[in-house]
Amino acid sequence: MENDMNEMDQILEDVRQGWIPSHIYSDAAIFDEEQKRIFSRTWQFMGHVSEVPNDGDYVVRNLLEDSFIVVRGNDTKVRVLLNLCRHRGGKVCRNESGNAQKFVCPYHAWAFKTDGSLAGVPYHQEAYGGTEGLNKKEFGLYRPPHMEIFNGLIFINLDPDAEPLESYLGDFASYLSFYVPDVPGGVEVRGPQRWRFNANWKIGSENFSGDTYHTPQTHASMGAIKLVSSAATSNRKAGVMFAAGRGNGATFRLGDGPGSFEERLGNNGFPKEQIERMRAAWPPEIVALLQQDGLLPSASTLFPNMSLLHISAKIDENDEFAPFTTIRLWMPISATETEMWSWFVVDKAASEEFKRKSYKAYIMCFGTSGMFEQDDIDAWVTLTKMTQGYVSSAVHLHSRMGMNQDGSPLNEPLEEYSGQGTAHIGFNEYNQRRWLNFWAEHLEMDPPAHPIRSGAE
Ligand code: FES
Ligand SMILES: [Fe+2]
Repeated sequence: MENDMNEMDQILEDVRQGWIPSHIYSDAAIFDEEQKRIFSRTWQFMGHVSEVPNDGDYVVRNLLEDSFIVVRGNDTKVRVLLNLCRHRGGKVCRNESGNAQKFVCPYHAWAFKTDGSLAGVPYHQEAYGGTEGLNKKEFGLYRPPHMEIFNGLIFINLDPDAEPLESYLGDFASYLSFYVPDVPGGVEVRGPQRWRFNANWKIGSENFSGDTYHTPQTHASMGAIKLVSSAATSNRKAGVMFAAGRGNGATFRLGDGPGSFEERLGNNGFPKEQIERMRAAWPPEIVALLQQDGLLPSASTLFPNMSLLHISAKIDENDEFAPFTTIRLWMPISATETEMWSWFVVDKAASEEFKRKSYKAYIMCFGTSGMFEQDDIDAWVTLTKMTQGYVSSAVHLHSRMGMNQDGSPLNEPLEEYSGQGTAHIGFNEYNQRRWLNFWAEHLEMDPPAHPIRSGAE
């Protein structure tokens, strides 16, 4: 056979055409490449500053097999420290969250301050001959080469040569500021709830990029019991899919043509004072998206594995609706298992009543008790299982919606769109293919320089 492409080149070529070799959703060798080439160089969400409000507050977060401590030091600065003892590799902090003045390794009791510096070594003089043998200044906890904060969201990047977060986000920053607005006083988060399921991490990530096509079917019962409005289920094809920076997402259509901002948000359960705060905090193009286009962002994904969602749900028998926002991470455990991290987000200054209603809407729809969640997981676990069959692993899945058979686009991007980036109306898989193109682009790149071997601390 005349084919000099190696197997990976062929996979990437197929994916770019919208023909997905099904085994990429369960293949351990592919997962190995993803770890080395994707998670090692993309901006990764670690948590929100409101999770560590006071000096010494910390949360422990994983990125694949690496454990990190996100901690606020006595100088009020938030840092991310590698949770690995510089002596013999002990796990320095075993708790998931708390408040500490020092992290003491359980193995031989080296003690690290909240800024990561090594403060105490037992028998420093007797065992090491003091500074002569071991200079404590050189053995602080490692830090990822880059950490940046956007509207309180803490991100790290393990690639020493990473592009800045701002350019990585690009126009997606506008949508990120919709979900996590830059309100005075900031937002607060609850959770994260965490659970595992037997599905490949890419499926959820792609789905949140713009799979509105599954909603009328997978989530039909949510519409039938009127948990959410018809805009959120059966009428999803009236929304548009947007692509901006490293993100992709979907919108609901709340009305045709220009309309009042107050009315649209009011119908979605926003109390009056929240409407005013959101108008002041949201970027002007998000305000215009609602007013001019009658569109409200719903789900989206920042490549590779951070998703965001905003939707309103009915919270009582009087047909009262409340909106909520959630942040979620699709953290891979293996090629066939994912750990979900799900946070609830709310304006810190909102009334306790609004927070309670919004949280109720969240736990009814998403999180461990969420009905949407359960619908989705069933589909994704089944898909992951199916792709492991001898025959089934060899087929190509169809991800070509919105393309003619010759590969040309079926529709052009909208000419008039108030939001950032480009947008397509109706059902399509432009966003999923765009996500898969980012995926292919990363798998083609050499792994980045190692953050520690390159001397970063
Ligand atoms: S491994 Fe941490 S003190 Fe020895
Ligand atoms: Fe879904």
